[in-house]
Amino acid sequence: MGHTLRRLAPSFRSAVGVDATREMLAAGRGVLAGAGVANALLVQANAIALPIRSQSADVVTSRLAAHHFADAHGAFREIARILRRGGLFLLVDNYAPDDPLLDRFINELETLRDPSHVRNHTVAGWRRLLEGAGLRTTVDSDAAVTKLTTENWLERSQTAPDRAEEVRRRLRSAPPAAIEAFQITPDTFAVRKLILTGRR
Ligand SMILES: C[S@@+](CC[C@H](N)C(=O)[O-])C[C@H]1O[C@@H](n2cnc3c(N)ncnc32)[C@H](O)[C@@H]1O
Repeated sequence: MGHTLRRLAPSFRSAVGVDATREMLAAGRGVLAGAGVANALLVQANAIALPIRSQSADVVTSRLAAHHFADAHGAFREIARILRRGGLFLLVDNYAPDDPLLDRFINELETLRDPSHVRNHTVAGWRRLLEGAGLRTTVDSDAAVTKLTTENWLERSQTAPDRAEEVRRRLRSAPPAAIEAFQITPDTFAVRKLILTGRR
């Protein structure tokens, strides 16, 4: 969250960063202090109950957090609540392929790695969630592929040894369609990310 605020806050009068955990807020404060950004307030809150006035925000972003939301619908409704009419929501998150087998492959892999993972939706799924919250999505979404080194990825989340071993086993024995979709090599694989825009 600190990285997003570091880049965006200087373009606004004030900015608020929200996360459910103290650890992420502390990390965010460190990034902002290092960058000399002084107009951002960091608060601990659940995305379904933002301590922010209705229709007070020009822009809301959510970066790589929504796939952890237990209630993504509730969170997007809350985002729609705080946005001014015409305000912009930018969702940056992982997405799953449309093929249900590949969808299951990547979501199970993510959950094994980090049990707090809830769901990488498909592009259509993310779009439906935004629309269902009253946000008009643009026709185009932007997509990117992030290449991950498997061992670094597991280390970053401090995955338990037995779960990490199961992740390695699944990558080693992945079916051809998954090898192609996720560009699986002995040491790396790739996840897909989108940037989806919603207007209040
Ligand atoms: C992978 S981290 C991404 C952090 C940060 N947004 C970034 O871009 O680096 C996912 C974050 O989502 C937060 N999170 C998950 N569910 C949440 C919720 N319901 N409300 C607020 N934060 C939540 C977690 O605490 C965690 O810090």
